[in-house]
Amino acid sequence: EEGLHPQAYPWEHQKLSKTYDHAALRRGFQVYREVCASCHSLFRIPYRSLVGVLMTTDEAKALAEENEYEGELDNEGEPTTRPGKLSDYLPSPYKNDEAARAANNGALPPDLSLMVKARHGGCDYIFNLLTGYPEDPPAGAVVQSGLNFNPYFPGTGIAMARVLYDGLVEYDDETPATTAQMAKDVTEFLNWAAEPEFDQRKKMGWKILSVTAILFGMSVWLKRYKWAPIK
Ligand code: HEM
Repeated sequence: EEGLHPQAYPWEHQKLSKTYDHAALRRGFQVYREVCASCHSLFRIPYRSLVGVLMTTDEAKALAEENEYEGELDNEGEPTTRPGKLSDYLPSPYKNDEAARAANNGALPPDLSLMVKARHGGCDYIFNLLTGYPEDPPAGAVVQSGLNFNPYFPGTGIAMARVLYDGLVEYDDETPATTAQMAKDVTEFLNWAAEPEFDQRKKMGWKILSVTAILFGMSVWLKRYKWAPIK
């Protein structure tokens, strides 16, 4: 069963002449860390990819060191732990899928690394899902116990409850953290996570267009020049 078609928004960062808004990416990462990361992993994202986009090298190193990773085996063959490094990936909230399901009423919070690409509707879907929980389900709606009504989720009964509420986080740049603002920022951040090369692709597209336009102009001139005596 299809969910309600998400309302489409004119995402700034998707426009051909625009790039990701790095202040928005920083805010979105803050929402991910403070809200989503308690249930969702981003296991395809290494700390090194944050450098220059969301933070400095030193900041990313410090962030990596906040978490422990599996180290080498010690002399007795026992596993050891070590602080994270830039080459490590963002930590997952649960040991494995069983632990994740056990903590979420049997449902598995999916990894968010490629979520923007994985779901029909992309950014619009995620934004509508996060902001689309009605106060009460509409009259007549059947909601299974343990699930929450959300018209945008296929089937309308979703294991994830509403997570964003006005003022839930406090942004470093003092942007008011409304539900819509946080949903927009975290969605843009998840788009970057899934397509970090988006800006590069647009830049390359512009280069190709301009070089093609110049070559086309030159070929028109050449054709006229060569054929001029015959005319
Ligand atoms: C599912 C995003 C926070 C638990 C999902 C889905 C998305 C998402 C995009 C997939 C929906 C689909 O399959 O189409 C987010 C974002 C969060 C957030 C952006 C932070 C702003 C949380 C938190 C929890 C949670 C804090 C746990 C308390 C789940 C679960 C599912 C889910 C259990 C599976 C739902 C189902 O299959 O019924 N989330 N989530 N999420 N999320 Fe979250």
